[in-house]
Amino acid sequence: MSAPSATSGVPRHVAVIMDGNGRWAARRRRPRAIGHRAGARAVNLCIDFCIERGVQVLTLFAFSSENWGRPADEVGALMKLFLNALDREVGELHRRGVQVRFIGDRDRFDPAITARMRAAEALTAGNGRLVLAIAASYGGRQDIASAARALAVEVAEGRLRPEAIDEAAMARRVALADLPAPDLFIRTGGDLRVSNFLLWQLAYTELWFTEVLWPDLDAATLQQAFDDFAGRQRRFGLTGDQVAPTPTADTMAP
Ligand code: FPP
Repeated sequence: MSAPSATSGVPRHVAVIMDGNGRWAARRRRPRAIGHRAGARAVNLCIDFCIERGVQVLTLFAFSSENWGRPADEVGALMKLFLNALDREVGELHRRGVQVRFIGDRDRFDPAITARMRAAEALTAGNGRLVLAIAASYGGRQDIASAARALAVEVAEGRLRPEAIDEAAMARRVALADLPAPDLFIRTGGDLRVSNFLLWQLAYTELWFTEVLWPDLDAATLQQAFDDFAGRQRRFGLTGDQVAPTPTADTMAP
């Protein structure tokens, strides 16, 4: 995959919490499931926007490990929506060069859904225009715990020395390890929290929040997020001068 750097102003990897579907429906006195259905339309808008801007990776938080605890009718409606979306959208995503991936504990889904997840991944594996990672039954703590478990197994089997466990070793075992970490995190719906999404991967991600409810998402809102991102100085723990040295007489053009 070509690698335009995030310093070009466009985030390479955008991670999104799509929040506000329930409130969108409540404002219309409709069931929450209607909000999720409207949310699925906003997913397409977000994918289109990212493709047009040259984003490499888009990760969407579709269903958290905690969302299984929601009322059974809402979970059922979401599962139906996922199944329909997989049937309806994957062919078109493939045609557009999108590689579809799923992260999270897929064993908790109905086999009809996991079969479609596997088929979508197999069909689109060779695509490189945009990686669309869908976090489903995903939790950041669960992700870190499973990476820790993988390391423990390697130590127990004598394939890894405990002293070799460092940040890089951990980073290779969390979800999306082969992709750049998210540059920009967007959360709609007005809440100012990360909600157990990509906890390891978000360490130096720029965070952006909006009151806009997910089903109301439009290109102008996404553009605001991208413009804000382009104006930020990312320091990764260094000083401002280290990442963008103040011009001196020596470095100034005559
Ligand atoms: C959070 O809003 C949203 C979800 C738990 C589901 C997200 C799902 C979609 C956007 C639908 C389709 C997705 C794909 C990938 C096909 P909420 O229900 O917590 O809203 P609230 O905070 O207003 O109650």
